[in-house]
Amino acid sequence: MTSTTDRSQTLHPLLADRRSSRAFDEGHRLDDATLTSLLDAARWAPSANNSQPWRFGVARRGEAAFDALASALAPGNQAWAARASVLLLVAAADADSSGRHLPWAVYDVGQSVAHLTFQAASMGLGVHQFAGFDHDAVAREFGVPASWKVTTGIAVGRYVDTDSDSVDPKWDGRERVRNPLSTFVFSERFGEPRWS
Ligand SMILES: Cc1cc2nc3c(=O)[nH]c(=O)nc-3n(C[C@H](O)[C@H](O)[C@H](O)COP(=O)(O)O)c2cc1C
Repeated sequence: MTSTTDRSQTLHPLLADRRSSRAFDEGHRLDDATLTSLLDAARWAPSANNSQPWRFGVARRGEAAFDALASALAPGNQAWAARASVLLLVAAADADSSGRHLPWAVYDVGQSVAHLTFQAASMGLGVHQFAGFDHDAVAREFGVPASWKVTTGIAVGRYVDTDSDSVDPKWDGRERVRNPLSTFVFSERFGEPRWS
């Protein structure tokens, strides 16, 4: 593993500075225009055959949907996600309208969330994705059809602290590490590093 300090100097600041903080500002409100921009960024992501196999549920803090989503979170996630301005519920299509399986749907949905994430960063907002929640309970609560897979949730808001995790010091630094390129970039044979 390596630290956050060894990033390429040419990495764009939106990428270099992005992090999944848990220190959301409870006083922040996300307006509809900003929310629409974030979802528009997701909308313009590429997808296999332009299938656009995503759905986003929107729950602003104070709305019943927010409480419903927050109550399904794993306890460790409840501690911080309930302070976000908006929680988004993400679902991926299993098949198109003619019933044909969409093998790349989850890949496409992840990419649309990445676009949303960097649009948010460009607007000074933080995004923290989470998978730790009761997926079946949420699918039931929000009436997600069986042909759709609930994948993840996304907490969006303003961070009060971007340098440390003020929610719980146990997280500090743990998520600021990455494997070196030599461990995952290959050329002629899988597993043989292109660069040492
Ligand atoms: C699909 C997915 C699921 C995640 N689930 C959780 C989660 O349930 N709880 C949590 O605190 N963080 C969750 N995270 C955040 C990751 O732990 C975090 O992105 C990773 O540690 C790297 O940190 P960074 O985003 O700050 O670079 C999730 C991230 C992704 C992409």
